[in-house]
Amino acid sequence: MLTREQIQEILLPLTDVESGKSLVELQLIRDIMIKEDRISLSVICLDTDEQSRIELEQKVRELLEAGGVGNVHIRLRDATDYERSQIRGRSEEETEEDNEDMLKKGHAAGLEGHELINENSGVHFVAVASGKGGVGKSTVTVNLAVALARMGKKVGLIDADIYGFSIPDMMGIEEGPIVEEGTIIPVERFGVKVMSMGFFIRENSPVIWRGPMLGKMLRQFFSDVGWGELDYMLLDLPPGTGDVALDVHQMLPQSKEIIVTTPHATAAFVAARAGSMALQTDHEVIGVIENMSYYECSSCGQKDYIFGRGGGARLAETLHTELIAQIPLGAPDNHISEPDFSPSVYKAETPTAQIFSEIAAKLISKCEK
Ligand SMILES: Nc1ncnc2c1ncn2[C@@H]1O[C@H](COP(=O)(O)OP(=O)(O)OP(=O)(O)O)[C@@H](O)[C@H]1O
Ligand SMILES: [Mg+2]
Repeated sequence: MLTREQIQEILLPLTDVESGKSLVELQLIRDIMIKEDRISLSVICLDTDEQSRIELEQKVRELLEAGGVGNVHIRLRDATDYERSQIRGRSEEETEEDNEDMLKKGHAAGLEGHELINENSGVHFVAVASGKGGVGKSTVTVNLAVALARMGKKVGLIDADIYGFSIPDMMGIEEGPIVEEGTIIPVERFGVKVMSMGFFIRENSPVIWRGPMLGKMLRQFFSDVGWGELDYMLLDLPPGTGDVALDVHQMLPQSKEIIVTTPHATAAFVAARAGSMALQTDHEVIGVIENMSYYECSSCGQKDYIFGRGGGARLAETLHTELIAQIPLGAPDNHISEPDFSPSVYKAETPTAQIFSEIAAKLISKCEK
């Protein structure tokens, strides 16, 4: 089996036609993942016309085949204006304007941290909270983010569960973020830009920090990360009403909130606490999502309400908000040998992904009305 470094070596001869530099050295070959005998990777295209894209993909394939890799999955993504300007530069006039801009903005990778969290940034913040752990908060956050991206929105996702980060594993991200000129570039997966403490912690060692450090970390997820343009920023909060949740509320007063619960009465009761915390800090609770609501028999279609019934609806009533959706039990039917394997993202054509598209559509209509 080849290593990432060997694959980079094989692809080293690929160059950018204009600058003549290697695409590998320009960090335009990303997300290299090796699963058994299959390799998947992303290629960032500086030339975005169809012909150039096809040729580039062909070249990547040829080089890898010559290197003994036949089974390869290639994702093509167009370079952002910023990425292109960094590599190819622009006319002097434009560069001058940019320099002024950069001075003003810090960096042109999009909004800088404090601008991103500024209430006028135009980015819709949605924090996903729960009372208890294990109710599927992260599953909901991930799939809602992917659903928004599938609808063409520019989406960021912050794994604000700093102790219990899980998003990278759930989305099948094995790659860490790269750093461009002191800015951390979030890892992009299924069109969602992701930032997680998991990228910086090795070997699943526990995170042992005191409260103030957590808040600082979270702040850096905004200030040191080049998010680029965003329509939505989703935050996967830690369960309950602890320090980090409070930090997020204070840092992002404009954030809207979704509360996740299971149908069980006690889960909904505990979730109400997270909901009232949101309300006390003036966050608008846009709705409740009830997860693991029922099990649907695959042969007869009958619904069994294994964990009880009505928790989500009652919680919504308590919080004077709406029950946005009920999500059935059933893990995604994804297999490790598939390209873009992720344990927790439902494929677009599945009924559960359809429910998440409906949630995304509702969210868009609530945020962009
Ligand atoms: N609808 C569902 N059907 C089946 N399994 C589910 C469903 N939703 C979540 N799960 C599974 O339940 C477990 C907990 O889900 P998840 O990690 O999303 O919850 P969480 O609330 O974020 O938990 P934590 O408090 O640990 O952060 C995971 O193993 C997940 O795969
Ligand atoms: Mg979680």
